[in-house]
Amino acid sequence: MITKIGHTDEDVVQAGSLLREGSLVAFPTETVYGLGGNALDADASRKIYAVKGRPSDNPLIVHLAEWEEIYAVAQPTPQARALYDAFCPGPLTMILRKLPVVPDETTGGRDTVAIRFPSHPMARALIRAAGVPIAAPSANISKHVSPTSAEHVCKDLEGKIPLILDGGPCDVGIESTIVDLTREEPTVLRPGAITAEEISAVLGTADYYRGEIREALAPGMKYQHYSPTVPCYLAKGESLEDAYRSLAETGIRPVVIATEERVRGRVFPTISLGESAEEVQHRIYGALRDAECYDAAIIENLSDRQEYFAAMDRIKKATGGKVL
Ligand code: TXA
Ligand code: MG
Repeated sequence: MITKIGHTDEDVVQAGSLLREGSLVAFPTETVYGLGGNALDADASRKIYAVKGRPSDNPLIVHLAEWEEIYAVAQPTPQARALYDAFCPGPLTMILRKLPVVPDETTGGRDTVAIRFPSHPMARALIRAAGVPIAAPSANISKHVSPTSAEHVCKDLEGKIPLILDGGPCDVGIESTIVDLTREEPTVLRPGAITAEEISAVLGTADYYRGEIREALAPGMKYQHYSPTVPCYLAKGESLEDAYRSLAETGIRPVVIATEERVRGRVFPTISLGESAEEVQHRIYGALRDAECYDAAIIENLSDRQEYFAAMDRIKKATGGKVL
């Protein structure tokens, strides 16, 4: 299959037709690029799992453009409306009770559905052009690093889908915050740019899920994620130089991924994550993909700073417990 890269309004209209006909299309959102299919079409959802190589018990997020569209797929609650008013469109996904019209293939057989209102203008235009809710996981091969540019999508999915819409680099850079509104307490299952504290400020209560069943609650969390094709290590000690040397001495060529102040002026290979939490979120996935040109990556440990919580969640997944 030839994969077209689309930029124009006509390409968005074509993408909408492809989605209505049951095909898949990759598109930009403000978080990461998504691999979209008609959320109400069981075959389209099956195709998404097949193209990504993703386990089918890992449910998809349903993307909508306007609040009113929610009544066609889910049972919204007053808390959902309050979060919509505060943060949407934007990088937030809400878990709600689903309506029977949403096929099991989309929700991994659950009685709940994940709903998100992306803010990227091209994503919103695509949902309108399609006229159907769009189920979309991140547009990477399962377990690889999520894509934050059309080039990233191309590397993983070229030849497998008919069209990739190119809307430039993603602003946020990591996946949406997922909050489960079907539990007694609003519970953040996946950290993201919108924090549990911000959600709590709107709802009066909300917390991160810290127990083991977090994985059962958001099945995607149990799979290894966000991994470059080369080994990644978390730098536990203070000195990035020592960490670099310990690997370089064994004859392999590592790159050090760290915040700007820690990489400035270094003589060994580095990739800068910038200076603020926003920049780190924005750059982390591109850095992990760029690390694939080296033999290994060493990543700065940002654990002690609360504002890096969401980025560290992704870094821990990428390093998979390997430390230096
Ligand atoms: O930012 C994002 O959310 C991106 C863009 C494309 O919108 N999408 C994304 O999708 O990250 P994906 O498939 O890579 O991650 C979806 C996560 C998975 O961990 C999945 O288990 C969880 O959402 N999820 C989906 N439906 C769920 C449900 N009904 N209950 C619990 N978790 C759910
Ligand atoms: Mg993903």
